[in-house]
Amino acid sequence: MKSKLILAIESSCDETSAAVVKDGREVFSNIIASQIDTHTKFGGVVPEIASRMHIEAIDAVVKEALNVAHVTLDDIDAIGVTYGPGLVGALLVGLEYAKGLAFAAKKPLIGVNHIEGHICANYIEHKELEPPFVSLVVSGGHTYIVHVKEHGAYEVLGQTRDDAAGEAFDKVARALGLGYPGGPKIDKLAKEGNPEAIAFPRAKFHEDTLDFSFSGVKSAVLNYLNKSSMQNIEVNKADVAASFQRAITDVLRDNVFLTCENKNLKKIAIAGGVASNSALRKVLMDEGDKRGIEILFPESILCTDNAAMIGSAAYFELLKNNIYDLALNAKPNLKLGER
Ligand code: KG4
Ligand code: ZN
Repeated sequence: MKSKLILAIESSCDETSAAVVKDGREVFSNIIASQIDTHTKFGGVVPEIASRMHIEAIDAVVKEALNVAHVTLDDIDAIGVTYGPGLVGALLVGLEYAKGLAFAAKKPLIGVNHIEGHICANYIEHKELEPPFVSLVVSGGHTYIVHVKEHGAYEVLGQTRDDAAGEAFDKVARALGLGYPGGPKIDKLAKEGNPEAIAFPRAKFHEDTLDFSFSGVKSAVLNYLNKSSMQNIEVNKADVAASFQRAITDVLRDNVFLTCENKNLKKIAIAGGVASNSALRKVLMDEGDKRGIEILFPESILCTDNAAMIGSAAYFELLKNNIYDLALNAKPNLKLGER
């Protein structure tokens, strides 16, 4: 089969990104304009500012993606774009731009689910990876355990009932005065702390479920900090970071390995921003070694939001001829496996 080149666009949150990807696995370019420095001042993403900054950046980002890949629009087989989930104003910038390009250049348009994109980042990193496998998607907005049955066929087996894993990292980091985004900062500080210093709770449900809850551990950390401050006790921030991180990674590990057992699957592909957490990677690899289960994850730049992962997901949709019409609208609450 002739190879396919996808131009992909991602703008669901605070990164404006465009990429050129060949056959879902080979990245020719992956340009990412991050707005993090701007949002840091506000302690989190401000949706109005995000939309405006996407508008300012998108044209140059897409042109650069084509330039770096040494291709023109003529060489592109299809345009892939994230249409949900995410911030509606942010999504619309990338989507409308992609629709305009698809119309003008007479190229097929492929709408991509952002969470599916995160999972597909693993196809770029691991050239031989094919379903079935279990994916643990841990990002700023989502926490899912997914059975990836085949390309594009997902069964969600567990999800968070409150905060996403990344959100808990960000909120705890904020309380510790570490700034935004908090995940990488906690990851770094935790290396100097004792993960067993403080016994933060691990949420367990009574029902037979693979769901998560992270608001309890987050509140426990906030209470611990408040209590210490009222009693004028100086806290060891590194111990807090390490103990909090251990509580999160313990729960993620237990549920994802239980899924492998239930489904008799031997591969776990982690995805999303929190997949670059060094403690999570280690905890899963150690357990994987014991149980003979392979742990896969993308390099860090492919874990956090980027368009290359969207290009990979779009390729597998193109193979199935899943082309979208130009009336496609942004879906801020799009679920995995939904259209
Ligand atoms: O996937 P992503 O870029 O955006 C969403 O789709 O949400 O994930 C961003 C999240 C943030 O919450 C950030 O704090 C977290 O990923 N993150 C990390 C690490 N790097 C990024 N969390 C823990 N450890 C890290 N090293
Ligand atoms: Zn994301």
